[in-house]
Amino acid sequence: MTAQDVCLLPITHTTAWQALAAHRDSLRGRHLRDFFAAEPDRFARMGLSLGDLLVDFSKQRIDARGLALLTDLARAADVEGWRAKLFAGETINASEKRAVLHPALRHLDPTPFPSAAFDVMPEVRQVRDQMRDFAERVRAGLWRGYTGEAIRHVVNIGIGGSDLGPKMAVRALSAFEHPGLHLHFVSNLDGAQLAPLLETLDPRATLFIVASKTFSTQETLINARTARDWLLAAVGNEERHQAALARHFVAVTAEVAKANEFGIPAENTFAFWDWVGGRYSLWSAVGLSVALSIGMSGFERLLSGAAAMDAHFREAPLERNLPVLMALLGIWNTNFLGAETSAVLPYNESLRSLPAYLQQLEMESNGKAISREGQPLPCRTNPIVWGEIGVNGQHAFFQLLHQGGWLVPCDFIAAAASDYPLPGHHAPLLANCLAQSAALAFGRTEEEARRELEAEGLSADEIDALLPFKVFQGNQPSTTLLLPRLDAYHLGALVALYEHKVFVQGVVWGINSFDQWGVELGKRVASRVLPVLEGAPADDLDASTRGLVAYCQRHGHR
Ligand code: F6P
Repeated sequence: MTAQDVCLLPITHTTAWQALAAHRDSLRGRHLRDFFAAEPDRFARMGLSLGDLLVDFSKQRIDARGLALLTDLARAADVEGWRAKLFAGETINASEKRAVLHPALRHLDPTPFPSAAFDVMPEVRQVRDQMRDFAERVRAGLWRGYTGEAIRHVVNIGIGGSDLGPKMAVRALSAFEHPGLHLHFVSNLDGAQLAPLLETLDPRATLFIVASKTFSTQETLINARTARDWLLAAVGNEERHQAALARHFVAVTAEVAKANEFGIPAENTFAFWDWVGGRYSLWSAVGLSVALSIGMSGFERLLSGAAAMDAHFREAPLERNLPVLMALLGIWNTNFLGAETSAVLPYNESLRSLPAYLQQLEMESNGKAISREGQPLPCRTNPIVWGEIGVNGQHAFFQLLHQGGWLVPCDFIAAAASDYPLPGHHAPLLANCLAQSAALAFGRTEEEARRELEAEGLSADEIDALLPFKVFQGNQPSTTLLLPRLDAYHLGALVALYEHKVFVQGVVWGINSFDQWGVELGKRVASRVLPVLEGAPADDLDASTRGLVAYCQRHGHR
């Protein structure tokens, strides 16, 4: 039987899946404490590196045999074949009839990609040059507003992939930002985001980036029109409008003509292509705000970190392949151990937007129950991804992680050195990060708790009363990802690691990770509700929605 024949079977019917289920049963009752006691070399074997990025899988609830069976599963799903298709530029986003070529965006060698016959690099390089020229002119104060002022504020207007990636990266790399340029991100339709921001801005020194692959997303267009009206009101004289727009608006889009219709001239338009998915677009001109903030050379370091992860993903054997292992361990936790959620816990203030970014990357990609062939999938797919920065989360929801009885696999992420070196801050931060993953893994037994209470001098009765509260079950699996420093290169590698993890999981589950039909229905229903809110008859709305509309009308929506 070839790998392809095997793939036609639902993945749960493969020998590899069934062997994993049996192995899971044989491990039942085994605690992380037992895994560590039995395997003194566990960290050495399961702490893997790419350069100086360390990914410690040793606190996952699996042994060497389980890992071997997981790589069998990857082979049964033909991960290697799908990986080859991805890098060959095949049309693997079948439902939208598109190739998936975001790795081209970080291909920095002067060679064709994906192949000499189908080379997208000339257009990619041309846009990179355009970004470099623009970013350097703005950063140097040479690109000026309609009154001749240098740009001091940049507002990226976009949503989803046209917001989350650049916002996450600009915040992550704030230690390297241009001191005279302030970056802002507006995504929400709620005027509470844009209105107070505009109050703080000077139209003469503000540049708007309208980022939208389709240039038809309602939220983005409404915000962009409001920003345009605000600018033009300040400009006054209508004869100067077009020239002002050309100094203060640029577009990043695959729909250049629509941006032009909006009033953004062709030379201010940065293109990308239908083979770049929205949530994979950080590496394209969607990253323009990142290039403005840290410079084009910084942006290229981000690309080179991602390129290093691409090369590793392409070349490393499955057994030592970071994205593959991360994906497989996620599948182990979800499909074999029964986890329903997974938490992203960056111990780094600058990574505060990473959980939201990964929510889109993971859940919009693999939050699906239909196979790429259109059949119901036989198993659960993406867990619910959520998260918060440490240490804040510790004082909010960690109680549940420790004693709530839920299985919640966690990713702990930290940088060994800080770029904000306030004395006395970073070591305690790191200590908390490392301590939490250890405490979640190993817990505290009744015996340990009793000894501690005895050492505190409590009476036997007091100890018996308190003991149930002092026991920590532990056995909560986690992966710890350590970077030497949160710089552009390591951020690029980290994000590409998650991207490929998502890809591998999609392949094993049998999903097309690159479409997102599930976001369409809500948009369609909103387009029926809006006219009703504005007074049209409500005949085709359900009773609940009609009642809610009536409430909004009574209470004076404006
Ligand atoms: O949420 C749906 C979605 O299509 C995302 O996939 C995308 O990132 C976002 O909307 C924004 O789309 P656009 O860049 O076309 O405005």
